[in-house]
Amino acid sequence: MKALEDKILKEGTVLPGNVLKVGSFLNQQMDSDFIMDIGREIARLYEGERVTRILTVESSGIAIAVAAGIALHVPSVFAKKHKSANMPKEVYTAPVYSYTHKETYEIAVAKEYIGKGDKVLIVDDFLANGNAVRGLIGIIEKAGADLAGCAIAIEKGFQGAGDELRAQGIRVDSLAIVDSMDESGVIFRAQ
Ligand code: G4P
Repeated sequence: MKALEDKILKEGTVLPGNVLKVGSFLNQQMDSDFIMDIGREIARLYEGERVTRILTVESSGIAIAVAAGIALHVPSVFAKKHKSANMPKEVYTAPVYSYTHKETYEIAVAKEYIGKGDKVLIVDDFLANGNAVRGLIGIIEKAGADLAGCAIAIEKGFQGAGDELRAQGIRVDSLAIVDSMDESGVIFRAQ
């Protein structure tokens, strides 16, 4: 998505530790119109795939998951990372290792929101090491639902997870794939 690449070049900054900061439009502050453009682009890619649910993990994937859900006219569900009092007892869970925080946490989705007969599209803002996506795939499998694919805003191609998932036969659509980045700039993979 050329508009996303342009936005990253204009507003993104590369921080030490291979972190691309996009807080001005995707993470902390949301550019509302642009988030909706991302949602419409994801919907265009999965039009005709008969998706019944969008699935993401809290927190920063939620905005584009909702935008895609609006454009596809399906509900968006997010996996919770923290146990909460109003979480039903009946949940599907999966472990996720976070490289950023160097710890494994459990994600959980209430069984009532995903099940057999669902065709689920995973949506997330970043695909880095792929652990969040793998955890979400685990939940979809436990629920007996089908995976339509993974729609990602920004894939960090140099971390390899997107290509590993593709090699496993999983459909992964990333609107921008960063092949390399440093303080002097960002280079995208031609798609
Ligand atoms: P993975 O899910 O692909 O395995 O990612 P990893 O453990 O490497 O990253 C952990 C968190 O950091 C994820 O968010 C991921 O979206 C985010 N992240 C990874 N690389 C970047 C980056 O270059 N820039 C930004 N802005 N974020 C990055 P999270 O911890 O699940 O938290 P949340 O922000 O969604 O709440």
